[in-house]
Amino acid sequence: MCGIVGYLGQQQAETILLEGLSKLEYRGYDSAGICIQKNGELSMSKAKGRLKNLAQELEHHHLEGHAGIGHTRWATHGAPSDINSHPHASMSGNIAVVHNGIIENHNELRSKLQAEGIEFRSATDTEVIPNLIEFYLSKEGGLLKAVARTVKELKGSYALGILSKGEPGQLIAVRKDSPLIVGVGDKERFIASDVPAILKYTKQVVYLDNQEIAVLNADAMNFYDYDLNPLAKDIHEITWTAELAEKGGYDHFTLKEIHEQPKALRDTMTGRIQPGNPIRLDELELTEEQLKAYRRIYIVACGTAYHAGLAGKKAIENLARIPVEVDVASEFRYRNPIVDQATLVIVISQSGETADTLAVLRDAKAKGARVIAVTNVVGSSIARDADDVIYTWAGPEIGVASTKAYLTQLVAMYTLAMKFAEILNISQGSDLDELKSALLNLPEKVEEALAMNEKVRAYAETMFRVHDVYFLGRGLDNVTATEGSLKLKELTYIHSESYPGGELKHGPIALIEDGTVVISPVTQSDLVEKMVSNLHEVKTRGSRNLILTMEKHLDIVRDAADEVFILPDTHDLITPVLAIIPLQLLAYHVSLLKGFDVDKPRNLAKSVTVE
Ligand code: G6P
Repeated sequence: MCGIVGYLGQQQAETILLEGLSKLEYRGYDSAGICIQKNGELSMSKAKGRLKNLAQELEHHHLEGHAGIGHTRWATHGAPSDINSHPHASMSGNIAVVHNGIIENHNELRSKLQAEGIEFRSATDTEVIPNLIEFYLSKEGGLLKAVARTVKELKGSYALGILSKGEPGQLIAVRKDSPLIVGVGDKERFIASDVPAILKYTKQVVYLDNQEIAVLNADAMNFYDYDLNPLAKDIHEITWTAELAEKGGYDHFTLKEIHEQPKALRDTMTGRIQPGNPIRLDELELTEEQLKAYRRIYIVACGTAYHAGLAGKKAIENLARIPVEVDVASEFRYRNPIVDQATLVIVISQSGETADTLAVLRDAKAKGARVIAVTNVVGSSIARDADDVIYTWAGPEIGVASTKAYLTQLVAMYTLAMKFAEILNISQGSDLDELKSALLNLPEKVEEALAMNEKVRAYAETMFRVHDVYFLGRGLDNVTATEGSLKLKELTYIHSESYPGGELKHGPIALIEDGTVVISPVTQSDLVEKMVSNLHEVKTRGSRNLILTMEKHLDIVRDAADEVFILPDTHDLITPVLAIIPLQLLAYHVSLLKGFDVDKPRNLAKSVTVE
């Protein structure tokens, strides 16, 4: 996820682009850059790191001109660096492009262009775009035709802002599967990934739809489809405040990120999972001999990422029949673990910077182990130091409590488990195919689960004043119970604990009294009856039970419940992806009812870079 902005008009573009980018930093912030056009010439300035680095650079070397494009980056292809920062120019420097999205066929296009003698400077997927446009410029006659020809060849997602030396005073924008709007001012035009970037200058916007091209001049704008048929587009008036706009219309980043989960899952699975085909994890080269030679597999992480590890263990053990140990990083590193060349360590970290997880990675590598990292941040310390990196594509997560990153970590772990099973030829192909289809259906099912929001809010109103909540679950439901309990603690400061359902009788049941709130996901077909017995045990002692289950188990669980949330049905192994959603929403609503800062709960940090 990146942010793009563009300007064409009477004012100095540099100021407007920098202001716009500052409102888009939530979309990515590992590097930034702008390109300004003056008398046809294109001048660039780029800087690795936060936007302030670029601003400082520009303070010393202002770029003058009334047209420009800018970008704030969340690296996907190529580590964060000056050279990989956008805008990217064609080899001759005639075309400059900013891009948000991923070009899936960039390797193929790069080879094609290299065969034509075109040289590349960066490691990005984006650089093929300006070069392809320039390649078609002479063949097609005119920038617009070259752009239309180019985008027809691109596979993947993209929002583009394009400037050309040959056509000063014109800015071209294209959109497919990444957001892009056009802002309309008095003799000035804007483009942006999101409304806040231009709200200071105009409230009049045109929403580009998929596969649409906008050709902008200071006093004109025209819209086309990819066959260059003209399109009539409406201008909309934005009524949001600037603050609300940054959150995409949601009241808080946490809620926005909870709602971004379907997209985050799709992005994480794209290109990797296809029924009937082996799992594609090109970033992982692991042979059957290598995998068989490992005598130990550890999964190590902290916080929510650790919970994804617990589900990962179950998936790897179930599908690939390899024993796996999971531990929290701060414990693992000091327990003198048995780590050597016959050890495979999988670390999971949203930020890629968590101190304890990073230390485990480095210690393990020093002892000769191989380390696979599952992380969300390209170029992070953990991504740089690991032997293999499997990225989750959740996009930047701003809310301190992890939501969308967790779902993508779960899916990454399922993907890895299937890969192991395929390498070892263990699970039946048809079983895996069923699982792959179920995974690919998850984004829609997550949408369904999100539709429970009102019901969850109403339930939150009945219990937000309680002092203790107990989460109970068996098997994979215990993973959900543990993560649900963490969400509630983090966001609402209510004391909560999670226990395996069967462990209840060994102590915690002593805490149950009249009115105690018990929350229990019950999704594991082979454990439903046993879990329901445990829930009856607490109900008899006065607890108020909320049960999260599927329609198919309703008859069995009904009597044990005071309240039921029905989850969409899916494969038993992947229910944690769905069952956590009402619990995320519950923590969110209780936090609001208690008047807390849900995006920045007290005492917590998003990235814990100290021990
Ligand atoms: C902090 C965050 C949690 C996160 C944990 C691990 O505690 O508040 O949301 O799960 O760190 O972070 P990581 O970036 O390594 O996943």
